[in-house]
Amino acid sequence: MKYKWLYIIPAFILTSCTNTSPDDLVNNEPITETIKYNENVAPIIQSQCVQCHNSNFASGGLVLENYADVRMSTESGSLIDRITRNAGDPLLMPQNGQLPAASINLISQWQTDGYLEN
Ligand code: HEC
Repeated sequence: MKYKWLYIIPAFILTSCTNTSPDDLVNNEPITETIKYNENVAPIIQSQCVQCHNSNFASGGLVLENYADVRMSTESGSLIDRITRNAGDPLLMPQNGQLPAASINLISQWQTDGYLEN
């Protein structure tokens, strides 16, 4: 078996390629870090909500521009109620389809963690 490494090395490379990458785990793993508004929540709200909920264009009278706005709507229960509605429900936010489960979990974990800002 002079050339056994010729078989072992490619086999090792093949199995390491089929391992799950860290990205694949993001949606399934329980959240272990502490959730902060600036770091974790604001990017979701800014990309998915602020275009319809800002001071110039406040759909439903709701502004979600900063920490205090988002905290108030989350504390009232209204924000989480709207993002956890089923697809097709006219009250679902954002209106064009449910946020990824990971984003919803993150916002409710932020509530559980006590609305840390940064
Ligand atoms: C395309 C525009 C649009 C986007 C994007 C959008 N909304 Fe809305 N939102 C509306 C409109 C219009 C209303 C008022 C009608 C209604 O109540 O459904 C509303 C109402 C709401 C309400 C109820 C009003 C209140 O004061 O409690 C909440 C909460 C809400 N949106 C949260 C969100 C969140 C959170 C996001 C992002 C995940 C989001 N919205 C994204 C248009 C939008």
